[in-house]
Amino acid sequence: MLFERVKPLEHIIESAERKGLKRQLGAFDLTMLGIGAIIGTGIFVLTSVAAEKAGPGMMFSFVLAGFVCALTALVYSEIAAIVPVAGSAYTYSYAVFGELTAWMVGWALILEYAVAAAAVAVGWSGYINGFLHEIGYGLPLVLTAGPYDTIVLRSGAGMGATSSGGFNLLAFLISLFVTVLLIIGTSKSARFTAVLVVVKIVALTAFIVLAVPAVSAANFDPLLPNGWGTPFSGVGILGAAASIFFAYIGFDAVSTAAEETVNPNRNVPIGLIGSLTICTLFYLVVAYAAVGAVGAQPGGELSQSREPLAYVLRAVGYPATGNWVASAAIIALPSVVLMMIYGQTRVLFTMSRDGLMPGVFSRVHERFHTPHVVTGVTGIAVALFAAMFPVGMLADISNSGTLFAFFTVAMGVMILRRRDPALHRPFKTPMIGIVGPMAAAGCVLLFFSLGWETIRLFLYWAAIGLFIYFGYARRHSLLRER
Ligand code: ALA
Repeated sequence: MLFERVKPLEHIIESAERKGLKRQLGAFDLTMLGIGAIIGTGIFVLTSVAAEKAGPGMMFSFVLAGFVCALTALVYSEIAAIVPVAGSAYTYSYAVFGELTAWMVGWALILEYAVAAAAVAVGWSGYINGFLHEIGYGLPLVLTAGPYDTIVLRSGAGMGATSSGGFNLLAFLISLFVTVLLIIGTSKSARFTAVLVVVKIVALTAFIVLAVPAVSAANFDPLLPNGWGTPFSGVGILGAAASIFFAYIGFDAVSTAAEETVNPNRNVPIGLIGSLTICTLFYLVVAYAAVGAVGAQPGGELSQSREPLAYVLRAVGYPATGNWVASAAIIALPSVVLMMIYGQTRVLFTMSRDGLMPGVFSRVHERFHTPHVVTGVTGIAVALFAAMFPVGMLADISNSGTLFAFFTVAMGVMILRRRDPALHRPFKTPMIGIVGPMAAAGCVLLFFSLGWETIRLFLYWAAIGLFIYFGYARRHSLLRER
């Protein structure tokens, strides 16, 4: 009874074709779009969170999280090539598992996109606050972090001591600013995205070039101060991998552009896998260089920094380049916030069109032609989250939702192979019998490696979702019996 409402694949594909967005993006544009969404707070900021959890062994966490994402990207590409429509994991689940699962995935995607947007905004605020402080215009510390975050006092008698923050003003403001841009119709301009991708790649390359020569073997010792970690503990290699997973998410944003892509069945898999591969290579070298150049013991300077890449360069004697890398983060991270909020509005928009969310969420502004209501509501929620919570906590919560969605996609692809073996598949996951179960198992492993606090919040979130589904969404669904 519960799983009977399935949206046939053919209908989803047909309705996407009818919408007729102009197809103008190619494989290169999609790869740029993917890199644009992937490189952000994860590498620029969470490197310190990973150091705190795993010490120098965080390099292995980058490898593990990257490996799970690569497996997921392979299965994701298969379904994205069959159903090249916006709405990503939510839409796929509707076709394969039916409405209840689709709802739960859509509900979890709110964590993936909206909470991730907040995390990136907080990460950005770390860099801009550091910059303002450097040039003598720093905000009062209480306005640089939320009430659930801690701040390290920089001067005076209590230097080095910590206290809780008050309101993360700049994270709040950047979220609202990006929201206004989205409402008035700025979205993913391919050329603008490409420019920012170049900024980020140049910054990471400069980091690598300057930090690698400073690598010293002593900085890797002890390699695993917190060991491998155990499920629910949220520390060690596994705990850090579960957090650093955040650095890789965003590649699925490529699938949201499927309806604007030339030959999507070929280009979407290239964009997904290509962007992830390039970012993974950069991340591995950056992590190695950061650890090797300054050390990464829990409680050490790197692990406490809010602008770790800039910190490393300053520490190895390149303060000017450190400031320059910080500027690159300041310039480029808001576009990641923009993509995440954009992704969120698209998912909510689609859910609203299906009747699962209030109809007002699919209302489009007469002049701007954008879904202004859902964008405004999302933006305000993101801004408030960003103002209150620390980046590591937001990233972990976001990861819990993303891992749930990716797990469902992996299961869906495997089930579809059995259920509909003759379906035309422009991209086939190689060795699905191995890659599929490994992707699903990898998502489960990382999910349970998040700390228990995060898992508990996810369970609350899921319970609220179920409550709303049975109280509202199920009764308003377009697929209900009339
Ligand atoms: N992967 C994106 C980032 O690290 C979300 O900011």
